[in-house]
Amino acid sequence: MEDTTNHSVKIAIIGAGNVGATFAYALLGSGLASQIVLIDANHKRAEGEAIDLNHAVPLTHSTRIWAGDYEDCAGAAITVITAGTAQKPGETRLDLVQRNYAIYQSVIPQIVAHNPTGILLIASNPLDVLSYAAMKLSGLPANRVIGSGTILDTARFRYLLSQHAGVDPRSVHAFIIGEHGDSEVPVWSSANIAGMSLADYCRMNCEEYNPEVYKRIFEQTRDAAYRIIELKGATFYGIGMGLVRIVEAILRGQHTVLSVSTLIQDYYGIDDVYLSLPCVIGPDGVNKFLRLPLNEEEVAGLQKSSIVLKETLHTLGL
Ligand SMILES: NC(=O)c1ccc[n+]([C@@H]2O[C@H](COP(=O)([O-])OP(=O)(O)OC[C@H]3O[C@@H](n4cnc5c(N)ncnc54)[C@H](O)[C@@H]3O)[C@@H](O)[C@H]2O)c1
Repeated sequence: MEDTTNHSVKIAIIGAGNVGATFAYALLGSGLASQIVLIDANHKRAEGEAIDLNHAVPLTHSTRIWAGDYEDCAGAAITVITAGTAQKPGETRLDLVQRNYAIYQSVIPQIVAHNPTGILLIASNPLDVLSYAAMKLSGLPANRVIGSGTILDTARFRYLLSQHAGVDPRSVHAFIIGEHGDSEVPVWSSANIAGMSLADYCRMNCEEYNPEVYKRIFEQTRDAAYRIIELKGATFYGIGMGLVRIVEAILRGQHTVLSVSTLIQDYYGIDDVYLSLPCVIGPDGVNKFLRLPLNEEEVAGLQKSSIVLKETLHTLGL
């Protein structure tokens, strides 16, 4: 496939906190962008991060990095939004909704005023709700408003499964779908290593198959953020790299299948809500979401996830 990466790619980052700055650092190392602008309500923070990042430039890729304002979003191929309050110990992602929706109401119109055609990539929580809100507030077509969704949860899941199976995480094919949050759903029915279901992999290649182990692996995946926040206050490396992976798939037109949050229409009775399914990501954002054949338990889980998300959207009048 044609590599559409070019050397005038600008990426705007709204929110230069833990997630925004970590993403900027990973993006710099990737060489995908020639310009990175950091925009934050706390301009000093953005300025400090920009200066610090610039000192890494001579050691990596030639990139212009600065702390800017919304007018600098003009011409950005992708604007990545990480602005907002993060979870404190014990808080769920949904607990953040009122505060972060208010931030989105002020931020999104300012972005589209200067950049009416770029792609928005959402990382703030509650992710799925804010992605839907960003689509509504921006007036952009749904394919151009992407939520990072369960790209992180899927990475956590593959990592933990790989540790159990003793193989490279990249050789584990398994998705987390639904809400990026407590109601997310593991798709056991299509999870595989070398084309074998996980049960077959274990029966043929491990000492024993114990479904309890897999149950615990999912629980650790779902609850990973709570544990990390308890231990170090915030999570940012996994999402930072996940955002780079989505940006790469867009800029290089890779048509990669990644689990991201997108507008779901007519799928197992689910309609008009953002949640994660494996999606084909290309130069225009989400090319399509993939209609996975799910078992009964997975369908019920996904429908529950969509209800949780719709109820939260209704509290915002959306
Ligand atoms: N999608 C994921 O997988 C994932 C993973 C980790 C964190 N998050 C979410 O990302 C968000 C950011 O987390 P963090 O740890 O970087 O938080 P942080 O507090 O370190 O950074 C947030 C930044 O947003 C800025 N900000 C606040 N209001 C703003 C506004 N109106 N305009 C511009 N900037 C504004 C703040 O000044 C701050 O610098 C949170 O909502 C968090 O829950 C998502």
